[in-house]
Amino acid sequence: MTSNATVRLTLPGGVEVELPILEGTLGPKVVDIRRLYAATGMFTYDPGYTATASCRSAITYIDGEAGILLYRGYRIEELATKSDFLEVAYLLLNGELPTRQQKQQFVHDITYHTMLHEQIQFLFRGFRRDAHPMAVMIAVVGALSAFYHEDLDVEDAHHRLVATHRMIAKMPTIAAWAYKYSIGHPFIYPRNDLEYAANFLHMMFATPCEPYRVDPVLARALDRIFILHADHEQNASTSTVRLVGSTGASPYAAVAAGIASLWGPAHGGANEAVVNMLEQIGSVERIPEFIARAKDKNDPFRLMGFGHRVYKNYDPRAAVLKQSADEVLDLLGKKENKKLQIARELEKIALNDEYFQERKLFPNVDFYSGIILEAMGIPRHMFTAIFALARTVGWMAQWNEMILDPEQKIGRPRQLYTGPAERPFLPIDARG
Ligand code: ACO
Repeated sequence: MTSNATVRLTLPGGVEVELPILEGTLGPKVVDIRRLYAATGMFTYDPGYTATASCRSAITYIDGEAGILLYRGYRIEELATKSDFLEVAYLLLNGELPTRQQKQQFVHDITYHTMLHEQIQFLFRGFRRDAHPMAVMIAVVGALSAFYHEDLDVEDAHHRLVATHRMIAKMPTIAAWAYKYSIGHPFIYPRNDLEYAANFLHMMFATPCEPYRVDPVLARALDRIFILHADHEQNASTSTVRLVGSTGASPYAAVAAGIASLWGPAHGGANEAVVNMLEQIGSVERIPEFIARAKDKNDPFRLMGFGHRVYKNYDPRAAVLKQSADEVLDLLGKKENKKLQIARELEKIALNDEYFQERKLFPNVDFYSGIILEAMGIPRHMFTAIFALARTVGWMAQWNEMILDPEQKIGRPRQLYTGPAERPFLPIDARG
């Protein structure tokens, strides 16, 4: 939305430029600087995009000060407790919650794309057994662009829809197979009679030797984790997917790049890092030592699962997961889980500490998710892969939105050049 308001910028030399102010439905207003360079010959400088809106989006809204997260206007807490992952996926992709009939059709569309091309098995088999599942996922998802290239026109709505269904449907199979390969087990094919999260657990834990019954409590807890991770507006991995997609590249290649971006410990890799950290802390008595290290500027150690670029309050996803951790561990008979005890105490101490209060550092989504996943028997190196699986919905929703945006252009930031000015080439013997 455009408001009539403008901002006037006076540059050295008295040149004035008037820039429009744009207003969304919620959140800060935005100064539209698109004319700035043409009018003044100047760029803006914003490493890490801390003050830059890269696009218009109607999918997800975060109020970081208040600790609110909305998917298409619905509170994350409500969706996590009242909805299910595929319903939320439909919402993120289409803008509205599905009717019963729309949901049935969507579930069918996703379910019937869960198998991988048989040839893809050989890609997995090319990896070392100890390859990190994220490395495998980047490769396999990137390779999907080779399997579905000829028939993919990103300007065609039906092609985009099929690519979206394929991506969401195949991701659990790819993630589970990365795990199966790492432990030397046979790949387990998807089962279309199971729901999305239950099918993933089946492909992770079933073997051909004996029947495997998916525990509905675990399936529900995992489904909730998927919902909480489904989208988070223009984070690093989503911006990566948009940037790659902005060139007209295959969505499979764009999502492969998104997975790569998610892998880092400052982003999705933090869930794995949190559990490693809790293990390293080892006991409640040692918490003060690690709090001191986190505050020491000469020590690179940071409290993993704490702090967020946007949230300056409790991450609402962490609040849902904190409660979920209690419930799941209780149901699994693991109530006395040591890592959960350390995490709870660590949170209490940090939230009462001036350093964390001043900087508004609160637990983020990764703080409790790893504890739940570990209690479910999911190995640590799969945590970020599960995050990627769930975030695929957001990536595809944002990719589709970008393609349909008439203002969309190839993503191409500018720079403040600090290298040498032009100079003559010196022959090798003349170089001192
Ligand atoms: N532990 C200790 N100090 C911290 C932490 C932390 N986890 N996070 C931030 N700080 C401090 C910084 O040292 C800095 O202090 P200073 O002002 O005295 O220099 C201040 O808080 C601001 O931190 P920045 O790094 O500038 O904040 P930024 O927005 O760039 O970083 C980030 C956010 C990357 C999430 C950071 O908080 C962090 O590294 N957290 C730990 C990793 C993590 O949990 N990542 C998951 C994020 S959620 C997600 O991606 C799903």
